[in-house]
Amino acid sequence: MNTHAIPTARFDHRKYAPAPTVQLSNRTWPDNPISKAPLWCSVDLRDGNQALIEPMSVEQKCQLFSLLVEVGFKEIEVGFPAASQPDFDFVRRLIDENRVPKDVTIQVLTQCRDALITRTFEALQGARCATVHLYNSTSKVQREQVFKSDKKGITALAVAGAKQVLACAQKQTNTQWQFQYSPESFTCTELDYAVEICNAINAVWQPTLENPVIINLPATVEVASPNVYADQIEWFCRHIQNRDSLIISLHTHNDRGCGVAAAELGVMAGADRVEGTLLGNGERTGNMDIITMAMNLYSQGIDPALNLADMSRIIQVVEQCTAIAVHPRHPYAGELVYTAFSGSHQDAIRKCIAMYELKHGLEHDSAQPWEVAYLPIDPRDLGRNYEEIIRINSQSGKGGVAFLLEQHSGLQLPRWLQIEFSQVVQHETENIGGEISANAVWQTFEQTYLAKQDWLLERFQLEKQPSGTNYCHATLTLAGENVDIQGSGNGLLESVVNALQEQFAIPIDIVEYSEHALTEGTDSRAVAYIKVRSGDLYGYGVAIHQDTLSSSINALLKATQQIRG
Ligand code: KIV
Ligand code: ZN
Repeated sequence: MNTHAIPTARFDHRKYAPAPTVQLSNRTWPDNPISKAPLWCSVDLRDGNQALIEPMSVEQKCQLFSLLVEVGFKEIEVGFPAASQPDFDFVRRLIDENRVPKDVTIQVLTQCRDALITRTFEALQGARCATVHLYNSTSKVQREQVFKSDKKGITALAVAGAKQVLACAQKQTNTQWQFQYSPESFTCTELDYAVEICNAINAVWQPTLENPVIINLPATVEVASPNVYADQIEWFCRHIQNRDSLIISLHTHNDRGCGVAAAELGVMAGADRVEGTLLGNGERTGNMDIITMAMNLYSQGIDPALNLADMSRIIQVVEQCTAIAVHPRHPYAGELVYTAFSGSHQDAIRKCIAMYELKHGLEHDSAQPWEVAYLPIDPRDLGRNYEEIIRINSQSGKGGVAFLLEQHSGLQLPRWLQIEFSQVVQHETENIGGEISANAVWQTFEQTYLAKQDWLLERFQLEKQPSGTNYCHATLTLAGENVDIQGSGNGLLESVVNALQEQFAIPIDIVEYSEHALTEGTDSRAVAYIKVRSGDLYGYGVAIHQDTLSSSINALLKATQQIRG
């Protein structure tokens, strides 16, 4: 009997029903591409914090708050102060220590209960401006099974909460107040009832163009595909009263892995504002990841209105505060997302980057959009460098190895040497069974082609003869002894080949040769690459020298010496 058989009895799809769809004629959202960033509200310190195994300390919250401000959030939900003493203390600290910049509004969450609302306003005493975020659950399941109530009862609870929020706010007139209401579990609420309860709240709060109310429509649990959420948002926006005086906000969770997609389609469907967390921490599979959504906009040429350039610091602070590691393949932020191991990917990236730099120099030219195979954005924008893009293991090809060498030391290996050297590297990675660093690739190259040679060129003289041929007289050191060689030929290399043949009786043909300057400016050096053949044997030589002729002769000596053994 197979003791590892997968049990099938309980794995029965008939247990589940499809999520309802929306009757929406002439939906417009599919034709409304996003053209500007939504208003962002970070809920890292509230929803994100509520989902942590170990909630953040006040110190950690202060650290994360500073990061959120630096990144450019203008609205930050800082906690649920009536439900948690550390949240209360943190809100007090922000206010008492004057930590909230003038252009930033803090937001706090409260349920529709008298004592909680009173405590919430205590926490906010002395705030310059603040958003009070009131919520209750509105879905059928919640109404009937959790609250044992009906639509009327749930609406009455919300309206009583809204009235108390208004009354408390009217007593604290030094604060500039904004109100927000969330029909929690909106996506599982009948749409006409969601509109009805929000209209009832707005009848209390009386939003105006100057003083809009935020209506936040949460996908508390993501139960349908993102197009259904977009339909719900468009339907809601069409039916809610006084739409112009409302800020329609989205708050998606990621249960089906589409939290970002749902928020994107929801913005296309007419929403103005999006709540989420940096890197997607939050209940269950997380909140909508603001970094991914913002970078998606950025990659489409839209200013995300957040500065994510120092991604490694963002990751470091988020990991420190949440104790959750970022997945190496996390969109835009993961350690491996700009890395290519596959040879064909490496080759394509190398060619496209070379072309991009040739066209634009190293400076960004907005007239010419980024177009590099396999890289949706330029990793340098997030502080990542090219060495991270191309990493070498046994899957890698010549292109990647050549790219790393060029980045590391300026060597532009000719194709024939790329082929030869990539085999040396592959041999090494297969032996190691893993990855080798750019530095290790360089060291392998050095040991294979550049390490100290036995035959050294001491000096040479080249003369043009009346016949037109070149005559070369060179002095080599060979195992500590000086040896003079001389020969003539059509060019320098031919005359040295002939001289070597004369001296050591080695018949040699030059099969490949190329050279290039290594650095620019007055102290530039030259590198020469040579492949020679003697019968069935091949030798490879590379040499770097201040002058081109010496680097060429030295490369030839190395290649010849390889054949001689
Ligand atoms: O997911 C949710 O519904 C919430 C509400 C409190 C907005 O976090
Ligand atoms: Zn939430």
